[in-house]
Amino acid sequence: MSAKIIDGTAMAKRLRAAYTARAEALAAQGHRPGLTVVIAGDNPASRVYVRNKIKACTEAGFDSRDTEFPEDVSTATLLAEVERLNNDSKVHGILVQLPLPPQVDAEAVTAAIAPHKDVDGFHAINLGGLFGLAGDFVPCTPAGAMEMLRQEGIPIEGRHAVVIGRSNIVGKPMALLLLQAGATVTICHSKTVDLPAMTRQADILVAAVGKADFVTADMVKPGACVIDVGINRPESGPKAGKLTGDVDFAAVSQVAGWITPVPGGVGPMTIAMLLANTIKATEIALQKAAKT
Ligand code: GUN
Repeated sequence: MSAKIIDGTAMAKRLRAAYTARAEALAAQGHRPGLTVVIAGDNPASRVYVRNKIKACTEAGFDSRDTEFPEDVSTATLLAEVERLNNDSKVHGILVQLPLPPQVDAEAVTAAIAPHKDVDGFHAINLGGLFGLAGDFVPCTPAGAMEMLRQEGIPIEGRHAVVIGRSNIVGKPMALLLLQAGATVTICHSKTVDLPAMTRQADILVAAVGKADFVTADMVKPGACVIDVGINRPESGPKAGKLTGDVDFAAVSQVAGWITPVPGGVGPMTIAMLLANTIKATEIALQKAAKT
């Protein structure tokens, strides 16, 4: 079998065109969507991600900026910056790129972002949305993966979804979104005993591990849908220096029914969801302004 490749680049392009039109309409009403990304330190991967996020937002007609801080920045300095952005009515969305340098209390900085500007969906109030409680924003990467399943018409309800990875950014929210969509969900992680026995039960397998080619063909049920959230750059081996997912694409695509590639899969959809959340934040600001 040869899996159908789910083209995240093409899907994201269509979504971005729609968000560009909505941004134009908002700008015409005097509310150009505004996103500010806060970045601290010199993490090369973070710099690339932030550059891509800002570029996509600028291309969609947003007022998109970044504020940069050195590696030795303090928690107090970042809290002050978040406070400044919370109070700036032109800034609708705030994103603090993670990871932050080790001396910074990242939890405190994330918690300080006003929930209605938290386009990453990392604030506790927004995480409540994953439990069906209050919350406006869903974290972008799992939201992007769910949108891929939806657009591709992959059945979720009643199916067994297995998520490998339990991070707050991807694994846990992804599992909760799949649960909300009616899947039976298993979360696996580094302590899981006999991981391949678990993953072979998956109708939908989500890999969010952070290890290149971690998911091999023998771990996948024939016909399953495999969503690869990994972004790795191996330092050695045949793929040294190349952007590589968590899934051994060449082998797994012979077994799976659907597969997302890296690059060109979940990554572009993550950025599309950031645009969607920033538009939503702008609309929330508009509604608030109308009420006062
Ligand atoms: N670092 C890796 N992924 C993300 C993300 O989606 N948002 C933020 N803020 N930082 C990240």
